[in-house]
Order: sequence, then structure tokens, then C-alpha cells
Amino acid sequence: MAATPEQARRAAQLRAEIERHNRAYYELDAPTIPDAEYDRLFRELQALEHEHPELLAPDSPTRRVGGAPLAHFKPVRHLVPMLSIRTETDTEDSGAFNFDARVRRELGLGDGDPPVEYAAELKFDGLAISLRYENGILVRGATRGDGETGEDVTQNVRTVRAIPLRLLGDAPALLEVRGEIHMRRDDFEAFNARALAAGEKTLVNPRNGAAGSIRQLDPAVTRKRPLSFFAYGIGEVDGWTLPPTHSALLDALVDRGLPVCVERMVGQGAAALAAFHRKVADKRMSLPFDIDGVVYKVNSLALQARLGFVSREPRWAVAHKYPAQEALTQLIEIEIQVGRTGALTPVARLAPVFVGGVTVTNATLHNEDEIRRKDLRIGDSVIVRRAGDVIPEVVGAVADRRTGSEREFVMPSRCPVCGSHAVRAADEAVTRCSGGLFCPAQRKQALLHFASRRAMDVEGLGDKLVDQLVDNAVVGTPADLYKLGVLALATLERMAEKSASNLIGAIEASKHSTLARFVYALGIRNVGEKTARDLARHFGSLDRLMSADPARLRQVPDVGPIVASSIAQFFAEPHNREVIEQLRAAGVQWEEGAAEAGVSGRLAGRRFVLTGTLPTLSRDAAGALIEAAGGMVSGSVSKKTDYVVAGSEAGSKLEKAQQLGIRIVDEAGLMALLDRDDSGESS
Ligand code: IVH
Repeated sequence: MAATPEQARRAAQLRAEIERHNRAYYELDAPTIPDAEYDRLFRELQALEHEHPELLAPDSPTRRVGGAPLAHFKPVRHLVPMLSIRTETDTEDSGAFNFDARVRRELGLGDGDPPVEYAAELKFDGLAISLRYENGILVRGATRGDGETGEDVTQNVRTVRAIPLRLLGDAPALLEVRGEIHMRRDDFEAFNARALAAGEKTLVNPRNGAAGSIRQLDPAVTRKRPLSFFAYGIGEVDGWTLPPTHSALLDALVDRGLPVCVERMVGQGAAALAAFHRKVADKRMSLPFDIDGVVYKVNSLALQARLGFVSREPRWAVAHKYPAQEALTQLIEIEIQVGRTGALTPVARLAPVFVGGVTVTNATLHNEDEIRRKDLRIGDSVIVRRAGDVIPEVVGAVADRRTGSEREFVMPSRCPVCGSHAVRAADEAVTRCSGGLFCPAQRKQALLHFASRRAMDVEGLGDKLVDQLVDNAVVGTPADLYKLGVLALATLERMAEKSASNLIGAIEASKHSTLARFVYALGIRNVGEKTARDLARHFGSLDRLMSADPARLRQVPDVGPIVASSIAQFFAEPHNREVIEQLRAAGVQWEEGAAEAGVSGRLAGRRFVLTGTLPTLSRDAAGALIEAAGGMVSGSVSKKTDYVVAGSEAGSKLEKAQQLGIRIVDEAGLMALLDRDDSGESS
């Protein structure tokens, strides 16, 4: 059944509306409608055309799906060649002044003559394309090729929503629009995120993404790539009176529905161009797409014609580039750097390459997974990117350049600095050195943490001092702090004798601590202040904590499998045990107590004070028995004391216990408590 006039009108209306949204979407920062609404309009048009094929116009947006895959691209001759532009790479204003001086000389202008009017725009980093509109309808899209002959990529160009299939307004018989197909950074990232999630190949960068997408033989592939387009000039024209200037020409293209970037200006003389160059340099990073410079063009088309060309370059235009943000180089080696927190970070050693205004010789590769994801191999040709002040990044490998001699990277199983085991937790991307306090790369951080206010609280030990102490090998482990003398400190830079002795005093004072602070000070991964307190309360003594296996550790409230294994791993390292021994030997001490109730023994949670001489047991032996039964031994009597075990010649402690009404037992009484049934322990 033929379409009714109403249906024909609706189809035309839908075509216009969909293309209007396409334009809005690709205009810089212009608002658009929600995707779902766009899709609804699109499907309505598709259904109409399906039912009434006579409504399927050549400019229908439904034609953007492209056709069957091609065997090869047909060559296209450009009657108006697609030129290249001369490039100025000076990073300073001279690029603008050199260009202006050349133009003025060519035009025969003297010092007394007025400034030349210029149009300035961005130099987009994508792929040059020529779009041929006949009577307003897009009939062909072609790549630049060698400038004379390009490739027919019409099918692919049709899938780019930013490119109108029909021009707005009065249509010239022929208009070739020249411009750049590119990929916005956000589209590039979203595309890669999806590809990654689907286990598909990612794009190396937006430029390659754009160029590679347009040169796909199968338009179905191109259609899935989020491409954008900006017009910046024209080629062949017929049946159209050109405006007098380049800027007016771009305005006319906008009127015909073509996307032209709004970041452009018209100005007089070199100073205006230099100002534009600087202004764009400042906002380069915040633009939604990559540019590699700005382009200056003599604005008057008549003057352009007078200036003409040299070889393949017009005399009336120049590209003033910014330092390249990407460059190709060689990945010579992947080395491991040990960070202050023990993270083993693979670092790329690169053949020196000038990129982003500096020479780059290395770049972080973050972790093992990142290297796999980017499929980097040692010896690869790689693309290095340094955008703005951002640290240099290896973007990806150029797989076509492989010779077969490249090597896969293997994460070492031991820390390259100290030889301790390198461990990667199941749910983490980072591999870490388990050397802790022993690993020199971690010493500074460990020392600062050890000395921090909520840990051992060594006043006056800041980063500058720690740097000096470690760099001069005066201090290696926290235990060395307690061996420091004023003399050793006085040899350090900027260390006055007074502050040296203040520091020694602070170190001395820190010896009297608590178990919780000490455990926290050790800097065990995943053990913060609260966990340290819980561990101290639960185990009561460092030895019990050190010998606890993960299953035992997990009995502590809030200690899960990850924390438990960090603790067990830390104490399993002989180096860590040695440092702890040295700290104790240096006199670092705290009051130990019993393990908490339910942990062990019938004296769990009971506090004892020993005083005087017992008939058979030494004080240490008695203390060990109490602790083994879960009790705590402390040095002084307080209201919290449960029992005082008194021997002969007991002094003030016994008196105090009597005053406070604390139960007093002798050795036999203690033995009875130790032997007593659990049932008798309830009071
Ligand atoms: S004008 C006669 N304007 O740069 C001058 N080119 O070397 C013709 N490009 O591959 C080009 N942005 O695709 C012009 N705003 C811009 C440009 C631009 C990027 C590319 C162009 C070509 C190269 C010229």
C-alpha cells in the first residue's frame, strides 16, 4: 500500500529531526536529546520506510548503516588537490611572527601598511576527509591519500552521525567539504572501556581510532566506532558564489548544517595569532578532543589566491604546532621500582624520546595487569604520551613492528632491593615486597610511621631528617634509632647540638610505650591503630601475637582473612623478627598483659602483681605461669588488680593491696588458682 501524504510528511519530519539531533550532538558542547529518545525517532523512521520503501530517501539517516563489506577501496581523484600545510614548531610566539613576516613580504607590504587579517583555528588530530555534496546530497567521501588520489570511503563516512547526509538551505550544484574526522577523548575512553569489558581489542589512541575506523572495509565495524567531524575548508565548488573570506566561508558551512569547531577567531596581524596560540595552549588539555597545534590562514580568499602555493603547500596557511604529546620509541627494559609502601612497580626504560616538551626515558607501567592489558613486550616499539603536566605514559605497543625477538615480562617473585618474598594478594593488582622494615626502599616510610605521634611518638623526627639518616646509612631500621648518639646526629646537615640532644631525649622517652602503640608502629600492612589495639588487648603479649597462626588471629574481632594473613606474613619474615628483637634489646618496653577471656586459660582477664620473694618460684617463672593461663602481670597495684601474690619481704605493694582490699595470695594460693577447675573461676 502506498504511503499516505501524512506518512510522507512524517518521514520527512523524522529525517529532519534526527539529522538536527545529529548536528546538535556533534557541535562542541551542544545539548542533545537522550539516546533513548533518539533511538525511538530512528526506529519510527525505519518502520515507516520498511512499510513504504518509496519513502526511503537518499539522505535518510537510516542509510547510515552502510552496506556490504568491500574487497578494496576504489581510488578517487581530487580535482582540487588536498594540500598539506607548512609547519612551524617554535613553541613561542615566533611561529606567528615568522608566518606574518613571510605573508607580508610575499604581498609586498611595508612597515607603513596595515596588518593582514587572519583566521585562526585548531589543528585537529585525526584523518583528513573530502565530502562531496551534489545538489545538497552526500554522494561520496574520500580520504586524502597522496593529495591527488585518495580512497573512496563513502560507505564508512555515511555511518558518521556528525556528517550531514543532506545540506541545509539552498544547495549548490556541487560542494566538496574538507575537514577532519576525529574521535573525542570521552568517546575513545568509553569505547575502550566497553571493548575491554567484552574482551575485545582496544584502540591505541583517538587518532589511530579515527584513521583506522574510516579505513575499515566493513562499514559495520566503522558504524560501531564513535567518530566526530569538523569542517575547515572546501574543495571543488560549482554553482555557489564564495564569500569573500575564509571565516565567512566557515560560517556559510555552518549555515548548511556542517559542524565547524567554535574555537576559532579572526584577528589582525601576528600579535593576534600569537595570543590565540597561547590561549589555546592553556585550554588544550580541557578540550574534548586532541589537537596538535593551531592553524593560521590569511582570511581574504582574494589574498589567498594572490599568495598561491609552493610545492604542495599554500603560502597563505601555516600550522603552528604544540610540542607533540605522543611519540614512538623503544621499550628497552622493564625494571622494578620498590615504593615506600613496598609496592613493586614495573617501570618502562625507554630509548630517550622528546615528547610533550621534555625528553622521556622512563614511564611507570603501574602493575602486572596493566602490562598484560596493553600487551607490552620488552623490545617493543611503543607509543609514549605525555600530555600537559601528566606523567609520561606508555599508551601501547605497535604490534606490526614486532620482529619476534621481543620478550614477555615476568613479575619477580622476590623484592629486587632486599630479596624478601614478593606477594600479590588474590584480589589486588599490586605485588608487594614482604620485607617490611628490612627493605631499604621502605625504610624511610617505615621509620616515619614508627616515629609518628600515634605510634612511638618520637618528637622531632620528620621526613627531612629521616631522609638524611637513611641516605647517610646512619639509620637502617627503627632499632638503630635507639643507638643514635648526639655525635652521629651532629654530623648531619643542619643539625644543631641542641636539637640533636632534644631528639635523643625524645627517642629515649619513646622507649616506654604500650603494646598497642608498638604493634601499630611496626607498620604491618592492613594493621591500623584500631586493629593494633584489638590485637594488643586480645593477645596481651607480643610473643603470643607473633606466634599466632592466621586461624588464631581471626579470633580477634574485625580481623578477617586479609588482615590475618598480612600479620602472619609480617612476623614470618626473619628480618622483621630480628628488628623486633633489637628493639626489645635496646630497651623498648611496654606493660604486657594476659590474653583476653576465651582465648586461653583459667586466669584469662585476671590481673596479677607479684611482690616479695616466693619460696620456690622466681618472679619470672611465676609470671610465665600466670600468663600461660591467660592472666596478665603488671608492675604496680591499682584498683584494677585482681590478685597480689606476696612472698617474703613484700613491701609497699602489699600495703597498697591491703588498703585497696585486693585479694592477697601466697605461692600455694597461686598454685591453687592455677589448678582450680574452670567452674570455680566464675566469681
Ligand atoms: S587546512 C590548504 N585546517 O592538517 C590547507 N588542515 O597538513 C589545507 N588539519 O591532514 C588544510 N586541522 O587534515 C586545515 N583547521 C585545519 C586543520 C587541518 C587539521 C590537517 C589536515 C591535513 C593537515 C595539513
